Amino acid sequence: MSLVTIAELMPQAEREGYAIGAFNANNLEFVQAIVAAAENQRSPVIIQASQGAIKYAGLEQITAMVKTAAEKATVPVALHLDHGTDFNQVMRCIRTGFTSVMIDASKLPLAENIALVRRVVEVAHAVGVSVEAELGRIGGTEEHITVSEREAFFTDPEEAEAFVHATGVDTLAVAIGTAHGPYKGEPKLDFERLSEIRARVKIPIVLHGSSGVPDDAIRRAVALGVRKINIDTDLRQGFMARLREVMAEHPEEYDPRKLLGPARDALQKIIEYKMQVFGSAGRV
Ligand code: G3H
Ligand code: 13P
Ligand code: ZN
Repeated sequence: MSLVTIAELMPQAEREGYAIGAFNANNLEFVQAIVAAAENQRSPVIIQASQGAIKYAGLEQITAMVKTAAEKATVPVALHLDHGTDFNQVMRCIRTGFTSVMIDASKLPLAENIALVRRVVEVAHAVGVSVEAELGRIGGTEEHITVSEREAFFTDPEEAEAFVHATGVDTLAVAIGTAHGPYKGEPKLDFERLSEIRARVKIPIVLHGSSGVPDDAIRRAVALGVRKINIDTDLRQGFMARLREVMAEHPEEYDPRKLLGPARDALQKIIEYKMQVFGSAGRV
């Protein structure tokens, strides 16, 4: 089927109380593994490309790969821009065929964040594309900041309510204790804050930095209204671990397909498991 928007996927997820995985892809093997996992699990799925992915693979190439995979698929697939920061690039993604975009202006002062998100929403909605924004700062695990410094960037529930109202955004990424990249210890999520945000914000909530978050915490977040879960690091690590293993087992092998193929299979299994934890398996 053709690519769908995230806005089209959300009503069922809201009604039935599950989250949809948004998996980052940079190359063919990841796109194939993500779609194969969705097919196997009968799950809707979001494939997302970051600015880094676009730089690595090329905007047209990544779009074409995902579009082709989606057209052949019998489950719905959305193509989403992850952490777009530049208005013009967001427009180029929309024009190339992305069905959903994130405009991440969370580093800007609130009024500027609102103004940029509104501008994107106006154009994106005019052409039927969904928009995600971020309020608070999620950041990376590699940033050497203390817990209290990180907490200072957590999403404020009252501000979230006003932000959603002012921007008309479709989904909201929140800072509640997750971070991008591999965690050193176990991440502690602020579930109370998540409940407060959810009580005030009626649109679906997005959880970034979800790799390495224990399954129970993920399930709890889904029960509290998280409907899109971003996963990148777990996929990279799982793929590379299997690739290194196969390379060590077959040091003479020179056919990339014989090395990348098993890594792709391992990746597919990881994604299928995530779909079960998120509750999106068996919904199509
Ligand atoms: O949130 C960031 C994603 O993991 C994308 O990472 O910018 O290295 O492609 P990247
Ligand atoms: P992780 O790499 O920590 O899973 O984060 C992914 C993400 O939030 C992409 O936007
Ligand atoms: Zn993110």
